[in-house]
Amino acid sequence: MELRDDELLHYITTEDPAEAEALFARAREVRSSHYGQDVYFRGLIEFSNYCKNNCYYCGIRAGNPRVERYRLSLEEMLSCCRMGDLLGYRTFVFQSGEDPWFTDDRIVEMLEAVRREFPDNAITLSIGERSRASYERFFRAGANRYLLRHETASEEHYRKLHPPTMSLQERKQCLWDLKGIGYQVGAGFMVGTPFQTPENLLGDLRFLQKLEPQMVGIGPFLPQEDTPFGKHPQGSFEQTLRMVALTRLLLPKALIPATTALGTIAPQGREKGLMAGANVVMPNLSPKEVRKLYALYDHKICTGDEAAECRVCMEGRIRNFGFVPNMARGDAAGWNRSA
Ligand code: 5AD
Ligand code: FES
Repeated sequence: MELRDDELLHYITTEDPAEAEALFARAREVRSSHYGQDVYFRGLIEFSNYCKNNCYYCGIRAGNPRVERYRLSLEEMLSCCRMGDLLGYRTFVFQSGEDPWFTDDRIVEMLEAVRREFPDNAITLSIGERSRASYERFFRAGANRYLLRHETASEEHYRKLHPPTMSLQERKQCLWDLKGIGYQVGAGFMVGTPFQTPENLLGDLRFLQKLEPQMVGIGPFLPQEDTPFGKHPQGSFEQTLRMVALTRLLLPKALIPATTALGTIAPQGREKGLMAGANVVMPNLSPKEVRKLYALYDHKICTGDEAAECRVCMEGRIRNFGFVPNMARGDAAGWNRSA
């Protein structure tokens, strides 16, 4: 669907609930026409909270001495996968901070082990910026998808969220590299980060239209008290929902998760995300002992639950809103697996 800049800016900023509801209804229609009422389940494994970066918003930034750091062993990761597979998951998402201990060799070893044991499952990586050569190795070792939010498409805004060692250009290059290699790619951004303007959000939507990622992760900014942005206000729940809906209109076939941050900022936040056009949920498969240590922001939900509990809980929540859990691999619509 085509939307002009002024139309997008209008929906980005409107505070009229009736207008927002009309937008969500259109987004639901578009979603349904490609995916029906199905909601895809992805099992999330947060395997290391070490990070060499210092993003000003992120709770596991290197400069936060109050984080108790952990790494899962390969055996622990495989146990998560086995539990996930038993619970029906056919996509495993491996996420971590940018942890140099996980060299390319170690990531490849992990991927090969998971690929060997679960030949039919999709493997998604979310481990930050690496070289094109590294991404190529991971792809050959069995990774199918890669999540790397661009965070903000504006140079000026990016510099306000990150230390000078990080660059938006490099991040965007990573996304183009991943696409070129043949990954299904996920980009995305936070809503309500400090210094963000409506024009920044418009820029995020226009960047997504250019990149055409298969997945888009959108969540509200939530402060983490030990970060430089710990005293900044959280993003707006309603605006986050509108950004989900607009993304659905512009990228009709995208796989859009109802994120944990959405579930954290409001009761039934994830369900409302689905009602605004999202169609994926990513329940946690990480061992219960480490859940609370992967604290990108404060008050994160689901940190006290076992994998099986999250699985059952999400199914109930989804069905309550008229959605149908889909446990299949759920590649992007039109995606050719063998290509
Ligand atoms: N609030 C909300 N989302 C956050 N992320 C990191 N820190 C925060 C925060 N304080 C998001 C980033 C990152 C993803 C894994 O989590 O967008 O890409
Ligand atoms: Fe590591 Fe943000 S501090 S990704």
